[in-house]
Amino acid sequence: MNALLPTPELEIPSIAFFGRTLAEYCQFFSLDPAALKGRSVLDVAAGPSSFTAEACKRGADAVAVDPLYGCSADTLSQHVTIDYRNVTEQILAKQHLFRLKSFGSLEEAELSRRSASERFLADYAAHFVHGRYIGASLPQLPFFDGAFDVVLCAHLLFVYAKRFDFDFHLAACRELVRVSRDDVRIHPIVGTNGRKYPELGRLRIALAEEGIDSQIVEVDYEFFAGSDSMLVLKRKQ
Ligand SMILES: C[S@@+](CC[C@H](N)C(=O)[O-])C[C@H]1O[C@@H](n2cnc3c(N)ncnc32)[C@H](O)[C@@H]1O
Repeated sequence: MNALLPTPELEIPSIAFFGRTLAEYCQFFSLDPAALKGRSVLDVAAGPSSFTAEACKRGADAVAVDPLYGCSADTLSQHVTIDYRNVTEQILAKQHLFRLKSFGSLEEAELSRRSASERFLADYAAHFVHGRYIGASLPQLPFFDGAFDVVLCAHLLFVYAKRFDFDFHLAACRELVRVSRDDVRIHPIVGTNGRKYPELGRLRIALAEEGIDSQIVEVDYEFFAGSDSMLVLKRKQ
């Protein structure tokens, strides 16, 4: 292949500390922002997303988890600087992998994500000590069974499928369901090549054998090609 042609998938050297706003979460998770009020919500692999800060402002009892929480706000700000540069370069170099359904332009998307990180960093500095941001990693979460009404996990599982094997995905899904009272929503279900996670069928069968129902639900959103659905998990009644 011609070395100058762009490769057909995103090349992110490590799991990016990159985040989105509540408005973008509501689109790719089909959430009604008004319905968050009074509910307990856990955002796993939250990175510098402003979802938790914004949800708390709207009266939700929201908590975010990420392995990097516990670092100082200055250190997280440095991660943001480096990872936003890498991701933005990739987006501009691989524009054929993006769809302008939810943003008018790539620049608008970048501004939205940058605003998310700024809001996150300010909220993290103010609320880390209050337990709003918890340092932890899948596949183990430091919460009681059924601790949260809704559990969300965006842009970790399936996206980085080359770094995490099947057993990790199964254990992570099991753990997300363990800490949820209602449902778990995972987005997207495609990898960095825009193709559906190849082990999704096998994963859903393994989850069903453990008493967990799964559904692929279309969402009114697409930015990265193929990111127009989510996986919803629920313990069978
Ligand atoms: C691309 S960001 C996604 C941020 C946010 N969920 C969003 O969609 O805007 C992925 C995050 O996963 C975190 N992460 C990496 N390994 C993890 C693990 N084993 N468990 C939970 N989070 C992890 C990274 O630190 C990073 O902040």
